[in-house]
Amino acid sequence: MPGGIRCRWLNRMRTQVAIIGAGPAGLLLAHLLHRGGVDAVVVETRSQDYVAARVRAGILESSSVELLESVGLGGRLRAEGHEHRGIYLQLPGERHHLDFVDLTGHGVWVYGQTEVQKDLVAAGTAQVHYEVRDVALHEVTTDRPFVTFVDSTGAARRLDADVIAGCDGSFGPSRGAAVPTDQFERRYPYSWLGILAEVAPSTDELIYAWHPDGFALHSMRSETVSRLYLQVPNGTEPADWSDDRIWDELATRLGHGVDGWQLTPGPITDKSVLPMRSHVRTPMRHGRLFLAGDAAHIVPPTGAKGLNLAIADVALLSRALVSAVLENDPRRADSYSDDALRRVWRCTHFSWWMTTMLHATGDPFDAQLQLSQLRWVTTSPAGATGLAENYAGLPIGF
Ligand code: FAD
Ligand code: PHB
Repeated sequence: MPGGIRCRWLNRMRTQVAIIGAGPAGLLLAHLLHRGGVDAVVVETRSQDYVAARVRAGILESSSVELLESVGLGGRLRAEGHEHRGIYLQLPGERHHLDFVDLTGHGVWVYGQTEVQKDLVAAGTAQVHYEVRDVALHEVTTDRPFVTFVDSTGAARRLDADVIAGCDGSFGPSRGAAVPTDQFERRYPYSWLGILAEVAPSTDELIYAWHPDGFALHSMRSETVSRLYLQVPNGTEPADWSDDRIWDELATRLGHGVDGWQLTPGPITDKSVLPMRSHVRTPMRHGRLFLAGDAAHIVPPTGAKGLNLAIADVALLSRALVSAVLENDPRRADSYSDDALRRVWRCTHFSWWMTTMLHATGDPFDAQLQLSQLRWVTTSPAGATGLAENYAGLPIGF
């Protein structure tokens, strides 16, 4: 039963931390706060089923896995997730394996965001109001911030809190309520067409492919479900691409037939287009409003960082809020934005670098620079280790 401590009016509630958004950042923050003894209430516009089924990220860094394990969320991940030692980089006619474990001592885990979301819901630690509307944040620069919303029964509610955590992604109201000092943005002239297919992956580890026709990625969700992406021009509609055309283009870019490797096609169950951009808003705090995850920053998906950054943010934020709320010690909350932004900028650079190294621009000069860079990371241990360290993940708090 969603709650918080009820005040005099039936529609007015109080909690210590009001969380906007029940994506991975919001639900994990609620879970971490609950374990730390801090009361939190989450409000979410979508239904629980919708949020849990949304097809998004699929790769967890080792530090994300360690954090999830340390707070009781590692059981199914270890049993059903798959640990990968590294990735393949594909160039026309050649495939190279980068072994992150050999290079850095850390691998990555294939475990869908949908599964992380289900584990968080199953933990039952977050009090969530789903299917709310008209969410608004008030008085965030005072010591009495509050959130108003209309709940799923149509009742107008007010949630008073010590602190508000904006975990509502790039389209939620928290961004508007947190007045930034600076905003940084890079848009890219291409998008990804992503598919989910009911077919066993044709590879044991992810393949990132550079090709003159454009980038392609072979990822996966399980032994029977594959996730693949193609670089497409901005403005592409999923309906512009028939299933046959998608599989033909994936085969070309991923190197079907090279050294006997085969891409096995299968029924496509989901098709969507994902625009790419880098965006950072600073600081990640405005008065008593703290931003975490996509509400504060967006990365293009090429480095698989979006979900991992959301996890790292809330790991820092939960510690800061436990100290501030329970121990009346504001130091970690005061340094939260600077602490989180160090990793945000590292991941923003890495995601930009992977993106610009792998996507075709049509400019022959760009192509030669990309090939030179790819030769470096596939032949020099120093180059490979830099990629591996960033991909497999720097420690939380880096
Ligand atoms: P979100 O997951 O966006 O969660 C925010 C939550 O806030 C949502 O549940 C939303 O419904 C809720 N919300 C929004 N408005 C309100 C409101 N007014 N009131 C209350 N709640 C609200 N990464 C990859 O690596 N691979 C992918 O294929 C991939 N696909 C993506 C596709 C899309 C469309 C998006 C947006 C992101 C994708 N990402 C992908 C990135 C990754 O999924 C995100 O970085 C990650 O979800 C961030 O988690 P979050 O909790 O910060 O934000
Ligand atoms: C995914 O599986 O969705 C995925 C994997 C790696 C990426 C991006 C997306 O870099």
